[in-house]
Amino acid sequence: MGKLLAVTGGASGIGLAIAEAARAEGWQVATADRTPAEGATELDVTDAGAVARWIGGLAELRGVVCSAGISAATPFLETEPELFRRILDVNVTGTFLVAQAAARAMVAAGKGGSIVLIASVSGLRGIQGRVAYGASKAAVINMAQVMAIDLAPHGIRANAICPAPIETPLVTKLHDAETRSQWLSRIPAARYGTVGEVAQAALFLLDERRSSYITGHALPVDGGYGGAGVMA
Ligand SMILES: NC(=O)c1ccc[n+]([C@@H]2O[C@H](COP(=O)([O-])OP(=O)(O)OC[C@H]3O[C@@H](n4cnc5c(N)ncnc54)[C@H](O)[C@@H]3O)[C@@H](O)[C@H]2O)c1
Repeated sequence: MGKLLAVTGGASGIGLAIAEAARAEGWQVATADRTPAEGATELDVTDAGAVARWIGGLAELRGVVCSAGISAATPFLETEPELFRRILDVNVTGTFLVAQAAARAMVAAGKGGSIVLIASVSGLRGIQGRVAYGASKAAVINMAQVMAIDLAPHGIRANAICPAPIETPLVTKLHDAETRSQWLSRIPAARYGTVGEVAQAALFLLDERRSSYITGHALPVDGGYGGAGVMA
């Protein structure tokens, strides 16, 4: 029987692709999502009790991927406090609750493990209209760094993945034609990424044989965006 992996946001986009790729690599995968989906547990990651019950039912957990997240693009001056709080609640508090419950389960099992948080290039650089989303993803990156320190004595690694735009339902909803052409002019690869490309990075960070000395790292999966100058 394969090792057990828990994935939030597993009903769609990046989380779904990671769950499928992990199963193909021999992981046993439990998914959860706020949106009901076949095979996934219905879960709101901001509900501490529900998170504890979900993770508590997963014996011998060795990996967790926190992909549940929401986004919005609103000018700084027009961002309402309610929207700011909601984005931080799901992306930061939700990630914290799931990662902490998973880490506690891994410590109890005593076999170490790997925690992968899905952050964003928005957490590494300022991006127009992303005051709440960017703040939330910067917090997620820092959380991975802190967990890397606090959990190292337990043999648990923690890393963040920072994708540039990836073709998913979230991006289809958020990016109009003008936004797309602005991004494409700044990404050397001259295209959006695929969910499969993020999934391969997650599998690498989950796999103790391949990434045993990598922890507290923020890994861009961005077609070269982070390294490019003004002209891509
Ligand atoms: N798509 C991109 O371009 C991109 C880029 C960088 C980072 N990300 C991040 O990747 C992650 C996945 O995004 P995606 O593009 O696959 O989006 P998506 O909308 O396809 O999937 C996100 C999933 O999270 C779930 N979710 C939202 N709020 C939840 C909650 N409170 N509790 C449980 N589940 C919840 C949704 O139901 C959805 O199924 C997010 O954290 C997002 O911020 C995406």
